Amino acid sequence: MFLPDFRFPSAVPPLFVHLKFINFNVKYLIPRDTIQSIVDTARIEEVVGDFIQLKKRGVNLLGLCPFHNEKTPSFTVSPAKGIFKCFGCGKAGNAVNFVMEHEKYSYPEALRYLANKYGIEVEEQEPSPEEKQLDTERESLFSLNAFAQKFYTQTLHETEEGKAIGLSYFIERGFREDIIQKFQLGFSLQAWDAFTQHALKNGYAEKYLVDSGLTISKEGKLYDRFRERVMFPIHNLTGKVIGFGGRILTSDKTKPKYVNSPESEVYNKSKSLYGIWLARNAIVAKDNCFLVEGYTDVISLHQAGIENVVASSGTSLTTEQIRLISKFTRNITILYDGDPAGIKASFRGIDMILEQGMNVKIVLFPDGEDPDSYARKHRSADVEAFIATASSDFIAFKTRLLLNETNNDPIKKAGLIHEIIETISIIPDPIIRPLYVRECSEIMGIAEQTLMNELNRLLRKKSQKGFSPDVPEETAGTQEVAPPQEQVLDISDCSAQELDVIRVLLHYSGKIITLIKEGDDPDEPIKTEVGLTEFVCNDLRANQIQFDNPVFQKIFDAYAEGVDNKSIPDDRFFLMHPELDVANSAINIITARYELSPGWEEIKIHVPSEEENLEDTATRAILSLVHRKLSAMIYNNQKDMKELPHESEDWADHLSRDIYLKQARNEISRRLGRTLNG
Ligand code: UTP
Ligand code: MN
Repeated sequence: MFLPDFRFPSAVPPLFVHLKFINFNVKYLIPRDTIQSIVDTARIEEVVGDFIQLKKRGVNLLGLCPFHNEKTPSFTVSPAKGIFKCFGCGKAGNAVNFVMEHEKYSYPEALRYLANKYGIEVEEQEPSPEEKQLDTERESLFSLNAFAQKFYTQTLHETEEGKAIGLSYFIERGFREDIIQKFQLGFSLQAWDAFTQHALKNGYAEKYLVDSGLTISKEGKLYDRFRERVMFPIHNLTGKVIGFGGRILTSDKTKPKYVNSPESEVYNKSKSLYGIWLARNAIVAKDNCFLVEGYTDVISLHQAGIENVVASSGTSLTTEQIRLISKFTRNITILYDGDPAGIKASFRGIDMILEQGMNVKIVLFPDGEDPDSYARKHRSADVEAFIATASSDFIAFKTRLLLNETNNDPIKKAGLIHEIIETISIIPDPIIRPLYVRECSEIMGIAEQTLMNELNRLLRKKSQKGFSPDVPEETAGTQEVAPPQEQVLDISDCSAQELDVIRVLLHYSGKIITLIKEGDDPDEPIKTEVGLTEFVCNDLRANQIQFDNPVFQKIFDAYAEGVDNKSIPDDRFFLMHPELDVANSAINIITARYELSPGWEEIKIHVPSEEENLEDTATRAILSLVHRKLSAMIYNNQKDMKELPHESEDWADHLSRDIYLKQARNEISRRLGRTLNG
């Protein structure tokens, strides 16, 4: 059965995203019980051990981190907790996350991988009627596109017309037989409806023929979109055909050179990259992705043995496409044909890549050559050597190109400074920006200080507009200044307080605390012992506190249920949770405290004051959250009040509510003050 693609909204690997980016709408069709049994069965040390060598170190295992370059091992696996953590790059996760990150699998793909490794059978869950409808549409389109690809490929190889016109074109163009096969190239006959009739005869419904764009319906007649063209099928990441490009072979100037499939339920142009299914492994292996213009460039480079290459064919590069690439590498090299106008037009798009924190290099091909023509004229080794030597960093490249055009005109040069600094300011990493400032100052022969001042000015301006969190002040040094922490006070944002309550629960659940109450005799306070989890859960439930963050609410509910059933979940329950967003939050929170530690053995020593006085820690977390929630309620109540006619009954209700809430908040403040002082 078909399983929809599972995508995170962000390119950042799911595990390492800040909590607010976690996708709360995880939809999966593998039954929850099965997921649970997969995560319960998978042993982190075995799963990781399939990919990297681990050595025993105390209760943990240690190896070289597969996610960053290192010579001394800092990648730690804890069999007891079922998680890994790299003290070098900070990545952490459970067995599922490891497989997702290492193999670039989606969540269901990773689960299937583990199920397969441990011999667990996965049967799919019934999807809802809407999902079924969408699945049917998508399934039908996939099936139809696959059918069309086979038809066009067969036509190319097995019909006289295909061989004489299509195949001979490819061969003349220098495409090898194995490459023609690999890219599943094809040919569409010179006929009005050859494909449409063939598909109808094979039971494909007219609706899907039209939806896929393979067939055009006009005035009640059906005819083929692609006629007498060589066919380039377009595949998604997993290698399913989602659309086609067709190139004309005649020199008829009234017809477009390339015709492409329109968008459909399976073909989203801004999210697709031509060649990605064949390139993904090579991109990871080379830690670099070559970006070219179109079909023929991708194919010719493959033929030259260069496989880490994709094309954004037709459209200019989109953020979604950049995110897709960033699943596999942070490095993009753009291969250009030597047309300056085209290059300059692409600068905007490149800024977008920099904005995503990727490193961009440029290779400029000699005049009149594109990657396709160059690869056809040169030996494979020479192509590779050319790309290696000709590749230069984008910002340096842009600086040189524009500098050339200024002809030492001071006004034009000032404009250039502004433009280059604008580009540098887009780079999110504050450590990298000054490096570029230095390089550009050398290229342009302009004092580093001048450029740095300009950069800081720009960053300040942007942060005032709310673009960037960096707010550097004017400085005398050539350093970017540390931005002052400008806290935006959003009174209704309780996320920090919610996080703290969940953090306390995850760290100290199951611990016993002693509560002290004033009794009848002031000298004889009443001491009661109670579980921390009971205390936190019951207190918050009594105050009817709901978490805004749905993942936190799920974690809290699980603890509260545990309190009621007298079986409180341990941290493994959350670290291995079948819902990825819950597991990710738990992993992020639990491993965060290890950050200061060089090794896991010494975990216990880091937060002594907090651990020594758990009553206080728990109480403060609860009170802070309640305080914040009350502030939010007061704020919202007052906002509503402004809308109401004065002295109306409703207004009076709001007023008394305001007074009541403020009293409650004062009481909480008083108690908070006491825990803070005592
Ligand atoms: P080219 O014009 O170089 O196409 O565009 P080509 O097939 O290599 O033609 P010749 O043999 O050099 O004349 C390069 C790429 O740009 C995309 C295609 O992917 C093509 O492979 N392209 C070009 C389009 O998508 N549509 C077009 O109209 C033209
Ligand atoms: Mn070309």
